[in-house]
Amino acid sequence: MLEITGLSAGYEGNDVIQDASFRVDSGEAVMIIGSNGAGKTTLFRSVVGLLAPSLGAVRYEGTDITGVPAQRIVRRGISFVPAERRLFPRMTVRENLALGAYPGRPDPKTMELVMDLFPRLAERQRQRAGTMSGGEQQMLAVGRALMADPSLIVLDEPTTGLAPKLAADAYEALGALRDRGLTVLVAEQQVPLAMALCDRGYVLDNGRISTQGTSAELANDPDVRRAYLGIT
Ligand SMILES: Nc1ncnc2c1ncn2[C@@H]1O[C@H](COP(=O)(O)OP(=O)(O)OP(=O)(O)O)[C@@H](O)[C@H]1O
Ligand SMILES: [Mg+2]
Repeated sequence: MLEITGLSAGYEGNDVIQDASFRVDSGEAVMIIGSNGAGKTTLFRSVVGLLAPSLGAVRYEGTDITGVPAQRIVRRGISFVPAERRLFPRMTVRENLALGAYPGRPDPKTMELVMDLFPRLAERQRQRAGTMSGGEQQMLAVGRALMADPSLIVLDEPTTGLAPKLAADAYEALGALRDRGLTVLVAEQQVPLAMALCDRGYVLDNGRISTQGTSAELANDPDVRRAYLGIT
């Protein structure tokens, strides 16, 4: 479904991501794990069209989408949930959701599906987004991404700022999306949570993909255990 080959990307001529290659097949959940500053956000921004790669290619469903602007990539079926969520705090929950369909009109069926998936959003439709709790704002950010009716959802550290219980809830919701057939690509530092959801993953280390494998293989990798699972 998504195939990244030899991707390099960065800022002001300095490549942060170097020669990254990975793929996500339809129906899979795939994780990119990496510590602070490893380049997860930079990698995702260059996949979803928010940052132009300096080298390499992004292919989606057989089409080269390298350098295609984010707005058009969304219309092709890839929705991005940034780590900082970027909600409109003074607008209501419902208005934020509707904006997820922009520039299209919000589809009532999709709105209903999102409300079904996150009953809390249904209860709080008229509440201003900025007054929602951290966990609720994360649900809203995912809900808004779903309003574009994506085939692939790309999430950058969906547990950012969440207490353990809420982080687990966020992953439970992702599991439900996955069960409905959505393909998931997620960057995460809270590796045990991501491992429970994902089939496979890649380790991003200093801008390079250093290791890849199934979740079980990664869970048994000594470097991964030491760096991300706190096991020596
Ligand atoms: N806009 C920018 N301009 C210049 N350098 C940047 C910019 N954004 C990120 N960087 C640098 O790129 C490197 C990778 O950052 P990135 O945000 O991609 O890492 P990350 O893995 O997402 O980290 P975190 O887990 O903290 O979110 C860092 O050294 C960072 O300082
Ligand atoms: Mg980041």
